[in-house]
Amino acid sequence: MPSLLLWDDQGLRNFDTWTKSPSYYPKRCEWEILTNYRHDIARQFPATSVLIELGCGNLMKTAWLLAAMEKERRHVYYYALDVSDDALYKNLNSLKKQFIDSQFISIAGLSGTYDDCVEWLASSASLPASTITFLWLGNSVANMPQQDVSILLGQFHQACRKMSADCNFLISADSCADENRILKAYDPTSGSSRVFLFHGLHHANRLLGQAVFKEEEWNAIPEWDKVLNELRYSYVPKKDVHLDVGKLQVTLKRGEPIHYFMSGKWNESQVGSIAEGAGLEVGKTWRDTQKEYCFYLLQSTTSASSVVGHKEIAERSLI
Ligand SMILES: C[S@@+](CC[C@H](N)C(=O)[O-])C[C@H]1O[C@@H](n2cnc3c(N)ncnc32)[C@H](O)[C@@H]1O
Repeated sequence: MPSLLLWDDQGLRNFDTWTKSPSYYPKRCEWEILTNYRHDIARQFPATSVLIELGCGNLMKTAWLLAAMEKERRHVYYYALDVSDDALYKNLNSLKKQFIDSQFISIAGLSGTYDDCVEWLASSASLPASTITFLWLGNSVANMPQQDVSILLGQFHQACRKMSADCNFLISADSCADENRILKAYDPTSGSSRVFLFHGLHHANRLLGQAVFKEEEWNAIPEWDKVLNELRYSYVPKKDVHLDVGKLQVTLKRGEPIHYFMSGKWNESQVGSIAEGAGLEVGKTWRDTQKEYCFYLLQSTTSASSVVGHKEIAERSLI
């Protein structure tokens, strides 16, 4: 099942509630980095630039970063992208109010998926500045397989090249290696983490127009991959279930997993390889004191020939 099922306005509310729970360590780490380094991060930006945020969520961290950029007198044309429509409009309105008198920050919204954003950029003749930075916070980068991330970054990179724009990414990623700490934060059995992790079933029911999935018939089962440093979730039926979706009839055996969500906890070398696959390299980094979280500035490598299309990346990885 697509992980996008976790995200809509209710999904985003579930996520925000979950991040307030004491066991959800990533939020504290990320805020520590922003508190300590937001001005240094802001100073890495040129005098004028475009900032496109991928999956902007509640915009709380964005507001802090934009305030730091304003203080550092950086002109920023900010575009917030998200699939959670109503939340995007609501949160963007309050962000706009915050910067209404700003001479440095201008704000716009983009409703759609990452792929929609690639398409929009590829068909844009130009944007208001010649440096484009993609902001991707909250470890969202690691909600998809590493190869898919390389492909997506490469597509954004290519779209920038087409506009003759410089392309950077500011990404925050969770690199916690403590399996118990991770599993406690992502507990599927109770509390706000459970509500977040089961929302995919309810969202699927809404899209299908009927209660195909009954929560009480399912477990959400985590699996920690020690080699790739990735936590993967599957919905697993507690007994044999028959899913009746009009013409589509599916029977699943008890214990048969349906994969739907992953959260990578990638280290710097993994992030470096992903960047490399997209013709990018790791520039400056900012970490929390426990070294469990990291902000990465990914920059274009100088040679234009290092920007490869997703077909070439797929072929390379086949080799
Ligand atoms: C983990 S949350 C992070 C939110 C915010 N960036 C933060 O750091 O708090 C992921 C966000 O990305 C959005 N999202 C997930 N998949 C997406 C996709 N394929 N395209 C666009 N937005 C997506 C979700 O709606 C959600 O707001």
